[in-house]
Amino acid sequence: MGEGLADHRPEFEASGREWRTPPLWGVGYNRRVTGREHYLHDGRARTIEEAVLWHGGEAEAARQGFTSLTSPERTALILFLDSL
Ligand code: HEM
Repeated sequence: MGEGLADHRPEFEASGREWRTPPLWGVGYNRRVTGREHYLHDGRARTIEEAVLWHGGEAEAARQGFTSLTSPERTALILFLDSL
């Protein structure tokens, strides 16, 4: 997903800047079940919003789309993701 998230640790066929794209189904349970929040492969994002803002590379357009949303639209998207 680009340099932003790169940990430069290759694993099998994945280079240090490639990750499995996780299913977002159930992403809201992270907080509800553990009482804590950490997202992305190394847990660096403490909120869903932070996780989206870390996107880059092939997902750069998604990050830009997110940053051009209005505040109520962003809130609606976060609430939607949290409900999955
Ligand atoms: C509106 C569009 C998108 C939203 C809201 C979104 C949201 C998210 C969230 C919340 C996570 C963290 C999941 C977790 O930690 O369990 C995530 C991870 C990820 N997303 Fe997206 N995403 C979007 C688009 C994309 C696109 C277009 C791509 C690739 C082309 C992509 C690739 C990834 C990858 C590879 C990860 C895992 C990164 C890591 O573990 O470090 N995402 N996404």
